[in-house]
Amino acid sequence: MIALITGSAGLIGSQSALFFHNKGYDVIGIDNDMRAYFFGKDASTDDSKKALEEDLAQYTHYDIDIRNLNDLEPIFKQYGEKIKIIIHTAAQPSHDWAMKEPITDFTVNAVGTMNLLELTRLNCPKATFIFTSTNKVYGDRPNFSYYDKAPDLEYKSMMIHEEEKRYEAYFTGKQLASIDEKMSIDNCKHSIFGASKVAADVMVQEYGKYFGMNTAVFRGGCLTGPNHAGAELHGFLSYLVKCIITDKHYTIFGYKGKQVRDNIHSWDLVNMFWEFHAAPRQGEVYNAGGGRDNSTSILEAIDSINRIAGTNWTNFSLSEDNRVGDHIWYISDLDKFKDHYPNWDITIDLEETLKQMVEFEKAKNA
Ligand SMILES: NC(=O)c1ccc[n+]([C@@H]2O[C@H](COP(=O)([O-])OP(=O)(O)OC[C@H]3O[C@@H](n4cnc5c(N)ncnc54)[C@H](O)[C@@H]3O)[C@@H](O)[C@H]2O)c1
Repeated sequence: MIALITGSAGLIGSQSALFFHNKGYDVIGIDNDMRAYFFGKDASTDDSKKALEEDLAQYTHYDIDIRNLNDLEPIFKQYGEKIKIIIHTAAQPSHDWAMKEPITDFTVNAVGTMNLLELTRLNCPKATFIFTSTNKVYGDRPNFSYYDKAPDLEYKSMMIHEEEKRYEAYFTGKQLASIDEKMSIDNCKHSIFGASKVAADVMVQEYGKYFGMNTAVFRGGCLTGPNHAGAELHGFLSYLVKCIITDKHYTIFGYKGKQVRDNIHSWDLVNMFWEFHAAPRQGEVYNAGGGRDNSTSILEAIDSINRIAGTNWTNFSLSEDNRVGDHIWYISDLDKFKDHYPNWDITIDLEETLKQMVEFEKAKNA
């Protein structure tokens, strides 16, 4: 029984490796530490790879690039039907970085995914295929609070309001909003990154709907946890914790620091993969974040981290320029997944996640 995990040294990949190893799977990890190329050596996932190799007896690492079909093919051929699940997390994950090298972004995110889907179809078609997509596939559509622009009826009445420390979105009648899978992905600005993920996201759905394979797309909100190699361009909570603990400067890009994200701990996300794998469906799409209870603005996150860490850090500045295509407010609606998989719920809330991240960062800098 093999779990093949791409991006196995990254945040979600390494959590997946631990999780499935604990469940008795042999784990094949594929990761070429391209994160260091994207974000610099501080964001390298090499230590995480070494830890997996040391800690997990049944872990085998392949230092190869998912863009290279010829390198991937022998692995799929060698293990064939023994591969029961593919968890595909390797990616160029930052929408700011993508504009620097759109072709690199597209080949990693879209072509890499296509390589893995096709090798799965040819060598282990009954396996579960999990793809970590992103809420950026909805582009900046959640920002359209003047919702006559929205074609989706359900979101026509959604309005974003500015509150003291955060933006908040309501449907008519003051009902608090969240974003479900019915939101359109068309006719909005996705960023280059969002668009390359859309290409992969739709292809993963297609391999389920067209070929009948057990594929699922998880459109992540903010995925987080202590094992995130946070960098300025990716992994905002992890990077913010790092800046607060080491008293480094942090720039907030746009929206006065009131932009809202929902945050899910990597363990809870991987537990979604597990539930799906136990009763797979074909070509499903799920929004996967922490939901309203685990949402925070950047200003609120700074308050929480200061409280948990016992610091009084204020070393940040507000830039007027928001990131292109960035969300003002985004909270995932988790009802569809909970309806399909009633055993699943969030088990690690944002407070506990932040505690783990603060402890991890303090230990690293002790
Ligand atoms: N972290 C988030 O907030 C977030 C939010 C939404 C979606 N996602 C998606 O979830 C997935 C996992 O995110 P993460 O935070 O664990 O990312 P991560 O950067 O921590 O891990 C990704 C890993 O993939 C590896 N990698 C990159 N390109 C590769 C290539 N060409 N070949 C082989 N390995 C390669 C990197 O070295 C890295 O170790 C990504 O697909 C990302 O787009 C993440």
